[in-house]
Amino acid sequence: MAQLWGGRFTGSINELAWSFNASITFDKRFLEVDVRGSKAHATMLAKQGVITEEEKDKICRGLDGIYRDVQEGNLLITDKYEDIHSFLEANLIERIGDAGKKVHTGRSRNDQVALDMRLYARDEVIRTKGLLLEMLKTLNGIMKENLKTYMPGFTHLQKAQPVTLAHHVGAYFEMFKRDFLRMEDIYERMNYCPLGAGALAGTTYPLDREYTANLLDFYGPTLNSMDSVSDRDYLIEFMSALSTVMMHLSRFSEEIIIWNSNEYRFVEIDDAYSTGSSIMPQKKNPDIAELVRGKTGRVYGDLMSLLTTMKGIPLAYNKDMQEDKEAFFDASDNTLNCLTLFTDMLRTLKFNKENMAKSAMMGFTNATDAADYLVNKGMPFRDAHSVIGRLVLYCIDEKCAIDDLELSKLKEFSELFEEDIYEAISLETCVNKRLTIGAPSPVKMSEVISLNEAFLTSKA
Ligand code: ARG
Repeated sequence: MAQLWGGRFTGSINELAWSFNASITFDKRFLEVDVRGSKAHATMLAKQGVITEEEKDKICRGLDGIYRDVQEGNLLITDKYEDIHSFLEANLIERIGDAGKKVHTGRSRNDQVALDMRLYARDEVIRTKGLLLEMLKTLNGIMKENLKTYMPGFTHLQKAQPVTLAHHVGAYFEMFKRDFLRMEDIYERMNYCPLGAGALAGTTYPLDREYTANLLDFYGPTLNSMDSVSDRDYLIEFMSALSTVMMHLSRFSEEIIIWNSNEYRFVEIDDAYSTGSSIMPQKKNPDIAELVRGKTGRVYGDLMSLLTTMKGIPLAYNKDMQEDKEAFFDASDNTLNCLTLFTDMLRTLKFNKENMAKSAMMGFTNATDAADYLVNKGMPFRDAHSVIGRLVLYCIDEKCAIDDLELSKLKEFSELFEEDIYEAISLETCVNKRLTIGAPSPVKMSEVISLNEAFLTSKA
């Protein structure tokens, strides 16, 4: 046990208490950000004359050496240390002697860990944005290729009106675009540097916080030292946005699972993203989509866990806050994995266009358009609704579509039916006539695709 404290203590810590208190098993992933932050701190201390240039150089070289040795497997991060901060400081002192003892001047682990977390989370926001852009490109690609791929649009999971695959997938483009914009928004608020807040009340050393913030590419320093060490809002916002990403992925997963079912057969999932059964040789299961749907629950749980941890904590730092890490890592690791896998699965997904169109043809998705046809011939909408309702009932009995009936049969329901009814209720017409902004006609969808492309170029 390599403790950072000692002077005030006469006894040693209980073994279970030591490991209960320690965070090294999970904060070791802060190695890179802790080195980055410590180098910036030392550089600022030298500029301010708190340590010498020579000492700063030794510290930076020492930290780089430790980082390299860990990367190359020549130095192990073990649980002899409480956390990554004490691991680095102890190893630094071992390597460079007294200069190493100065790296923590004017700093507390409270602002150190606040900085590490912010640097780490900021990188994760950038990675999330990259993955969301990949998803958006993939969706827009599918949209471009499927402007005329007809399928039923659903409400209540019942066939409702015909749409196209471009239109359906376009709905997800909008969702993930909002997710992307949320990430940008979160970044704007989180990108302030807590280093220099000390334990809670700043320090008496002449630290230049603007300078360190600048070295680490922050917009500037945070403005209240108590808030700096105890703010985890940016994680809560980020995890909430990740939960929303997962909710979108989960809804999409659910659709793919349904579309992949024996009854629908709208899609074929590539072998690379499906699994078989140990007993039933015929099975090809959509496990990846199911797991994405399943992992959504745990990401929500991570968010709830941190919200609950934070709710009773008085200012400023309290050890409860160490609990932020595992919850956050779990949420970001899982969401980023799910985004990566799901996008890859989408890229290789085969759409069975024939089955989609057949399904749209067979579910009376053109019933609204048939009613609108009668309205255009002068019948009040409520009457038309009732005529087509009776017609649909008849077709259900006859096991046929409206379009399958002879004109003479249609005329038994209304004299207003003419030969042009067939054209008026074809899938193509139903879709083409939906010309309002956001509707599925290829004309309108092409306009949206151009907007999507402009968005993607502006964010590339
Ligand atoms: N491992 C701690 C955390 O994650 C680091 C900060 C420790 N500060 C302290 N006062 N004990 O929050």
